Amino acid sequence: METFQREMNHNRDELRRTRWTQHRKQVTGLFDAVFSKKAIVEKVAIVGAGNCDDLDIEYLASKCSSLYLFDIDRGSMEKARNNLPDYTRKKIQLVEIDVTGLDKVMFEDHLTSMLKRGDRAEDIVQYVKEIENRLTQVSDSIFASYYNGFDIVATSAIYTQLFYNWAIDLLTHFENQYQENDAAEIKDGFLDLRDQIVRTLNHSISKCIKEDGFYITWSDMLKIEPEYMETINEGLNAIFALASNVGYGAALIGIKDYLGKVDKSELSLRYWPWDFNANKQYLTIGIIGRLKEGYK
Ligand SMILES: C[S@@+](CC[C@H](N)C(=O)[O-])C[C@H]1O[C@@H](n2cnc3c(N)ncnc32)[C@H](O)[C@@H]1O
Repeated sequence: METFQREMNHNRDELRRTRWTQHRKQVTGLFDAVFSKKAIVEKVAIVGAGNCDDLDIEYLASKCSSLYLFDIDRGSMEKARNNLPDYTRKKIQLVEIDVTGLDKVMFEDHLTSMLKRGDRAEDIVQYVKEIENRLTQVSDSIFASYYNGFDIVATSAIYTQLFYNWAIDLLTHFENQYQENDAAEIKDGFLDLRDQIVRTLNHSISKCIKEDGFYITWSDMLKIEPEYMETINEGLNAIFALASNVGYGAALIGIKDYLGKVDKSELSLRYWPWDFNANKQYLTIGIIGRLKEGYK
């Protein structure tokens, strides 16, 4: 999975950071909303930092004592950090982590062996289900050392990247061994696991926030098409309705689950187009919240 994500992250052109300027400003705005309420910020965590193209790291680091960047792809984070001045670099901690926890249960090896052997779809789904049931325990073990550690925890467009694309890519190498309905059954199993991964991640990282801390998330919701513009311009309710038809399932699960964890009276929600590449614009939702009292 790490190789897959690394290749995705490396597959970017030199223009990307420039193309993402407006997106980065929106992301900075989410943090500014917290800085305006919280005078002293010690530790900030960003999960899914990757190439850091959506982050103004110098600015963010200037606002806190230490900035923890989490990602499965350490190389991309290192490259981003190496371009920074010394005083900023000193504030940055890189955390190489598979936030799904699947590496801890040797999921990739096991699933690959099953697919190679051409095991029955129902056995594969059964195995995937067993892993789903172990996620909370595994996730606790990988995040426990960060619990109650951060004034701000943010997730950077990670919901849509978690597990599923990698799993489908792996399955395509073995798909000719399976009837269409069996392959569909396996994909459904993957979808269930993905949804549980997203919810478990939200749960674990919300535990990493200090009692009075903030929880920020932003996520691509859907690929913008010209015919969606009228609906998008109607505002948030229309956008959520549109996203539930044509949006990314993982993003919907992640946002819905996030909204269940935070205090509605302190919530701030924004949306903007993210110029992802020359051919793609994503409608992105950004949210700033605080955990409900007694949530943890
Ligand atoms: C769309 S990118 C977010 C943009 C990123 N901040 C940037 O500017 O390059 C999502 C990030 O999630 C990371 N990611 C995907 N699956 C992961 C996993 N299982 N554990 C940790 N990070 C993961 C990817 O490596 C990628 O850097």
